[in-house]
Amino acid sequence: GRAEGIVIAIDGPSGSGKSSTAKGVARVRELRYLDTGAMYRAMTWWMIEHQVDVDDAAAVADAASRPVITMGTDPNAPTVQVDGSDVARAIRGQAVTENVSAVSAVPAVRSLLVRQQRDIIASACAETAGIVVEGRDITTVVAPDAAVKVYLTASAEARAQRRSSEVSATDVAATQADLARRDLLDSSRAASPLTQTPDAMELDSTGLGLKEVVALVVKLVDDAPARV
Ligand code: DC
Repeated sequence: GRAEGIVIAIDGPSGSGKSSTAKGVARVRELRYLDTGAMYRAMTWWMIEHQVDVDDAAAVADAASRPVITMGTDPNAPTVQVDGSDVARAIRGQAVTENVSAVSAVPAVRSLLVRQQRDIIASACAETAGIVVEGRDITTVVAPDAAVKVYLTASAEARAQRRSSEVSATDVAATQADLARRDLLDSSRAASPLTQTPDAMELDSTGLGLKEVVALVVKLVDDAPARV
């Protein structure tokens, strides 16, 4: 058959370093990059903007097909738009962060976004060398046949420390509590919870620098069986 792009799937809890790692690998091996968490955040941002009660799963499901979410997959300049507006900053705000677990637990939201994610992956594989995709259900649901599957972890303290410096929060304990709350919701929901499967390579990034983690994943990419 025709040569196709490679898919690298990275799952893990908040603050494990998924985004930096995925972007780094995509840059080093000249692949596309998709942050699926940004898509759930964009959906949540739209729901809040349109005053949909995010705790009303039926209302969220009804509205889910209305926002047009557009992802730019250049790892050097990833973009996220909703209905043509750049929401990259807005989706990192507290309102979205507090409500994204509720919105992403709604099955209608997941089926829409998973379909869109698979379309983005298929285009990237047809048109480029491939794509690095990060999230919570990439190795299990979105791309279970990915050539490389990684489950990225780190200690709760290391994850809170990282997330605090990202959002320049000074209260690391509060950040750790927020991450713990979100991880519990994301791992215990009925629809595609965050789960670690035996066929994903576990990589604990506690105490490792970004360069080291990227190098480890790049090695997995280079060692992956050739695609035909
Ligand atoms: O990676 P992140 O923290 O930006 O993700 C935001 C939320 O989106 C996270 O709390 C859970 C949800 N999410 C999901 O349910 N499935 C994914 N593939 C990615 C993120």
